[in-house]
Order: sequence, then C-alpha cells, then structure tokens
Amino acid sequence: MLTSESLLVACCDAAREAAAFVAQQSERLLELDWHSKSRVDFVSSVDTGAEERIRELLLERFPKATIIGEELSPDETRSDGVVFAVDPLDGTTNFLHGYAQYAVSIACMLDGVLEAAVVHDVPRSVQYTARRGAGAYRGGVRMSVSRIEMPSRALIGTGFPFRDPSQLEPYLSGFKRVAREAAGLRRAGAAALDLADVACGHFDAFWELSLSSWDVAAGILLIREAGGVVTDLDGNEKTVSHGGLVAGNPAMHEWLLKKLLGTSS
Ligand code: IPD
Ligand code: CA
Ligand code: CA
Repeated sequence: MLTSESLLVACCDAAREAAAFVAQQSERLLELDWHSKSRVDFVSSVDTGAEERIRELLLERFPKATIIGEELSPDETRSDGVVFAVDPLDGTTNFLHGYAQYAVSIACMLDGVLEAAVVHDVPRSVQYTARRGAGAYRGGVRMSVSRIEMPSRALIGTGFPFRDPSQLEPYLSGFKRVAREAAGLRRAGAAALDLADVACGHFDAFWELSLSSWDVAAGILLIREAGGVVTDLDGNEKTVSHGGLVAGNPAMHEWLLKKLLGTSS
C-alpha cells in the first residue's frame, strides 16, 4: 500500500542493500575500474552497481514509480506520482581514495512533495531518516538542528566548486566573509552527509554553489524535519532541483545567507 511509512521502508531497505554492496566493494579498491565523467568527476562500477540494486528493489515495490538516479536515469523529468531521487554513492572521490566519508542517499516525492528520505552513512553504518511531518532520526533516535546562534561558536560545512573554475572567485569572496567570523569551516566531500550533519547538529550551517537534485533531495527533508531551514542562494525555499543551497539552524542559516549575499558587514 502507498503510505509514507511504506515509502520510507522501501527507501531504507534499498539504501541498506546498496550500502552493503558499497561496503563490500570498499575491500577491493585497487581492483576497481573508474573513469571520468568530466575532468574531476569520476564514476566506478560501484556507483552503477549500487544504483542497479536500488532500482530493482524500488521498482519491485512500486512498479509505476519514476526514478531520477545520478548514473542510470539523470534526465528523468516526470514529477507526478511516486518519484525517487537517488544518489547511489555520494562522495565517490572519497570512496575511491579510501577516505571514510560517503553515503547512499534516497528521497521519495509524491506528486512533487517530499515524503520520505534516507541518507545511509556507509563507513559508520548509520541511517539518517525522515518522513514528512513525523520528524527526523539518526539511527532511530530523534535528532534536531543545533542551537548555536553565535558565528564565533559555529562549525560551518561547505563544498568547493571544483567542476566549474569560473565559480571559484565568487565562491572565495563568500568563503572569506564566512571564515573571518565562524569558529571553523569543513569540506568533507559528500553533500548528502553534510546535510545530515546539519540535521543532527554537527554542523550549524552549510552551503555549496552547485549541487544536483539527487545530492540534496534527502537532506532537505532531514533538515526541515529536524527544525532547520534550507534555501537556494537567494533565500528562496529550496526545491528538489539542481543549483546552490544554504542550510542551517534558523539563526545560523540567516547569518550565513547574509554573509554569502554580502548584505551584512
Ligand atoms: C559530490 C559530493 C561533493 C559535492 C559535489 C557532488 P558525488 O557527489 O557530494 O561533496 O561537492 O558537488 O557532486 O559525485 O560524489 O556523488
Ligand atoms: Ca552526489
Ligand atoms: Ca554519486
């Protein structure tokens, strides 16, 4: 039956199965064949293998669903009915280097509304989950965004614009304004986990100039259900789409957005 519970269970089961595959493949990194999608954007048989497993499980349970998946169906445009946004391996570069920060991210939308989400942290074997109106959880324990309101105490996550060199200068201007006041800045390399880290209060805020819908879909619901705010770079409510993102607890989101827009000193 089509309930938000059944959608979340399917997302979690698919993420667990894909995570088991990714974890198993992490034992044979040296044998893996990876190739470049662009100069610094890599894909391996692990990304596609994980997405195949996710597709199979989700379509077995919801045969009419649409899947927007990074590797196998990135250009799907259908938005009515059940739609899953899937990043089978977020943090591919980390994974390929044995750097323990990567995840499986799956979100489900029903007629365009985010209903269920999971980010499965593979190395730590923890699931972050959320259902619309029912809160957000880390390993089954309710989570909420941090309460820090002073930049001088805030830990801010970010992602570098590594694919598009033309974004580096504008990025660095914002980075400098943030770095002058924040307690610390981190670039961990897996956006879905960065957003999970905002939802559970490890990060007080996060921004990145360019992300894809599958990077952010699950994280948006996690953060909103944990009491946080997610917008685009102009401060408009963030939708499941490609583009920039600013997130945080309400106070630190407001501060970060102003710093990035350059509207506060
Ligand atoms: C990437 C990671 C990275 C972010 C990139 C994403 P991928 O995802 O989330 O942190 O900076 O923009 O594309 O390619 O490893 O799935
Ligand atoms: Ca990704
Ligand atoms: Ca990916």
